Amino acid sequence: MEIKYRQYIRLHRNEILPGYKLDFKMVFQTGIVGQEILGDLLKMRVLALESSCDETAVAIYDSVQHKVWDKVYSQLALHQSHGGVVPELASRDHIQRALELTDALFQGSPFSKSDIDAVAYTAGPGLAGALLVTAALGRSMAYGLNIPAIGVHHMEGHLLAPMLSDNPPEAPFVALLVSGGHTLLVHVKAIGEYEILGESVDDAAGEAFDKTARLMGLGYPGGPAISRCAQRGNPGRFTFPRPMLKSPDCRMSFSGLKTATREAVLAAEPLDEQTKADIALGFEEAVVDVLTHKTLKACELSGCQRIVIAGGVSANQRLRAVLQARAEAKNIQLNYPELRLCTDNAAMIAYAGAIRLAANTPEPLSIKTFPRWPIDTLPALD
Ligand code: KG4
Ligand code: ZN
Repeated sequence: MEIKYRQYIRLHRNEILPGYKLDFKMVFQTGIVGQEILGDLLKMRVLALESSCDETAVAIYDSVQHKVWDKVYSQLALHQSHGGVVPELASRDHIQRALELTDALFQGSPFSKSDIDAVAYTAGPGLAGALLVTAALGRSMAYGLNIPAIGVHHMEGHLLAPMLSDNPPEAPFVALLVSGGHTLLVHVKAIGEYEILGESVDDAAGEAFDKTARLMGLGYPGGPAISRCAQRGNPGRFTFPRPMLKSPDCRMSFSGLKTATREAVLAAEPLDEQTKADIALGFEEAVVDVLTHKTLKACELSGCQRIVIAGGVSANQRLRAVLQARAEAKNIQLNYPELRLCTDNAAMIAYAGAIRLAANTPEPLSIKTFPRWPIDTLPALD
């Protein structure tokens, strides 16, 4: 039997179950490990660090209790006056917050650093400088604590966030991953086995929300701002185009919608509050319609009867409600993470790190980040 990393972690630290006298070198060489010990070796506490964009986040995942402790610091106030994330400011602020936040996390948890078995950090995709902050910190902490570290794919983290809910979805399913930088439809054949069925050919859905909100002077981040404004909107006053809706595949496009919205804004200027709300509603309805339509198309093409939505835009209430209704009509089950785990957090990174550590071979000590990193290039878990 091949010794996997999960076994190596505990063997390396000589934490064999009491009563078993095992020479870990012998075990490592021969691979003779009893089932009870294997079970014990699956127990791990992972510290995770995330700084891929404008949130500094830290978490501990305990696989025995299947429970997370986490903290998120949002840089919202820092970027708000700029109308979007300024990468250099983001990196500098991550440097200032990360250690302080990690200390606060340990203080608010029942664990100390010596209880941690491994460190996971977001290795990409994301802002190059921002990623490096917690990648360097995570690797250094792991080195200091003499435990392994693993670089995690941010979008796999989002995809796995619903696994931390009380009712986790079982693969296979279609995952709609909608964030500020990505709009992806993924056929999840098994956890770790991903086929991209379609993605946005231009702007991500979250990016379209952010740019449109900025244009309308609604503030940053644009998703929640547009949603709040749309609540006061009159349905039907503005109907915007749904680009690529009729294409027979799962590709999406949002830049034409953004342009159409800009034209409506310019034509209606100066904008009164009601017109703003009506445009916001028309925009939100169009995005939700495209995302819903393409997600159901992905189910049809893959034969899946389950959908998972995750990423910042999955916090959108209209998207959840419309997709729920249209999926239900086709007997398709819908899962999503709890609201605080939709946007960036480290709980999802800790969980993704734990399952990767349980399956993968050790990583070298070098600090590597991947600002661009397609999810379908990840190795399968087993
Ligand atoms: O996943 P996330 O926190 O960060 C990235 O990985 O990009 O996603 C952030 C995006 C932003 O574009 C934000 O406007 C959008 O998620 N967002 C929303 C909502 N909450 C956040 N979009 C629509 N409705 C929301 N309620
Ligand atoms: Zn994200």
